[in-house]
Amino acid sequence: MEIVSDIPHQEDCSRLIFECSGHKVEPKMAAELWVKILQHKWVLSEKLGRDVGTSVACLDFIENIETMHQDLHDAEGIQLLKELEAQMVDQSVWETISESQPPKQIVNKRIILPLTAVELARKHSVIPPRTIIFFGPPGTGKTHFVRAIAGILQWWYVEVSPSDLMADGEDRLGANLKTLMEKARNLDEVVFFIDEFEEIAGSRDHASRIDKSITNEFLKQVPLLKREGRRNLLVCATNYIRQLDAALLRPGRFDCIIPVGGLDDQGRRTIFEHYLSNTNRGNVDVDKIVSMIALFTPADIEYLVQKVRQVAFEREYLKGEDYPVTTETFLEMIPHVPPTLTDEIIEEFKQDCAHYTRY
Ligand SMILES: Nc1ncnc2c1ncn2[C@@H]1O[C@H](COP(=O)(O)OP(=O)(O)O)[C@@H](O)[C@H]1O
Ligand SMILES: [Mg+2]
Repeated sequence: MEIVSDIPHQEDCSRLIFECSGHKVEPKMAAELWVKILQHKWVLSEKLGRDVGTSVACLDFIENIETMHQDLHDAEGIQLLKELEAQMVDQSVWETISESQPPKQIVNKRIILPLTAVELARKHSVIPPRTIIFFGPPGTGKTHFVRAIAGILQWWYVEVSPSDLMADGEDRLGANLKTLMEKARNLDEVVFFIDEFEEIAGSRDHASRIDKSITNEFLKQVPLLKREGRRNLLVCATNYIRQLDAALLRPGRFDCIIPVGGLDDQGRRTIFEHYLSNTNRGNVDVDKIVSMIALFTPADIEYLVQKVRQVAFEREYLKGEDYPVTTETFLEMIPHVPPTLTDEIIEEFKQDCAHYTRY
């Protein structure tokens, strides 16, 4: 994919830059700058979540040219980020996760702080982790967490699923994984997220679907990635930590293995209130509802609120009068949403936490 297609003539570049910024630049230099301005336009648009337009990009580029983060303007890096469909996540996603949730505290102390309080971390020889595994039952918010981390750090978010890596055939998985990790090594300020990690790094003892060589390839790539002195994170998520190859879980490969799940009342309340805030609501007894959804994952809570909104919409459509959602609407719908968690899943998760957690 070509990101810079039609470059105007040198004189036109010079004129365009003058029109946008009021700066006169030599034509030859202008043509070189114009390429960078177009790249900057893409970066800025991604960061702000909207198309900023050429004039704004030009002005911003010229004004900040001195202080600009050099590597972001490295054409190869930008090309790579585009290929990987890198996204910028809004910082506000972090706020949707309750402070009381243990993984948030862990992530904050072990990952965010050492990466932001750089000097203090250096003083105490604290090395920020580079490779992390999140595990926990489905729908507990692992993907959401990884996006939140990218958002709060304002790093690029690149999501890879095993099916992407197998898009051109299962036998290409190893080669594609290697290519991806080689690219990862060359980028800064990126959170790489590999979802459904057990599909890639399943136990070598029970290797069936996927050849053992894939796990071996991964084991080879992780230390290489960590050797480069870059600021980036590799995060892998799995619903089935028990299926991962034991060799991967040994210290030295992944720096942190963090459980995501088992919300407390406060965690459920924060998520519930988050979704409730965009709902046409009347009187809702939040405490009561939260106490009734103890086995709900964040995904279940989201689904419950969606169902309630749909009902409200249909009722107002039929009657033609305002239908605010109330406690009763929730009480009516809760029985229609079977919770994902069961006592058995929770028990297994507790065992996994005791056995695998490391940070
Ligand atoms: N703290 C949270 N606040 C709001 N929504 C959340 C939160 N955690 C998860 N969700 C939502 O719940 C759903 C499931 O979360 P997800 O991260 O996909 O779970 P997992 O990756 O563990 O299966 C997603 O739609 C996500 O946006
Ligand atoms: Mg997920």
